[in-house]
Amino acid sequence: MGNRNLQHVQHHILICNGESCLRNRGDEVTLTIREQIADLKADEYIHTTRTRCNGRCNEACVVIVYPEGDWYRNMTPSEGKQLVSDLLNETRLVKDKAFHSFK
Ligand code: FES
Repeated sequence: MGNRNLQHVQHHILICNGESCLRNRGDEVTLTIREQIADLKADEYIHTTRTRCNGRCNEACVVIVYPEGDWYRNMTPSEGKQLVSDLLNETRLVKDKAFHSFK
């Protein structure tokens, strides 16, 4: 287990790795999001976590972003990549995939 410094983290991406989401490319989505974060040298600003089921299996693969409180459905690897860019550039190109927001 690491002891990561969270001081500069601005976004926490939770990527569902429950059974249904893994059947819908959850592992690929996870790896693509992490690669994009590394490629954009944003490790300091975006933290990711694989989760178990988030109770929305019909919308697998589910990706959740805090503190925005946005829940995204049916995410693909390329949309995961775009989501990372959106967070860094303050754009919302994958906004149509959000099905719930706490804000
Ligand atoms: S496995 Fe992802 S929401 Fe259920």
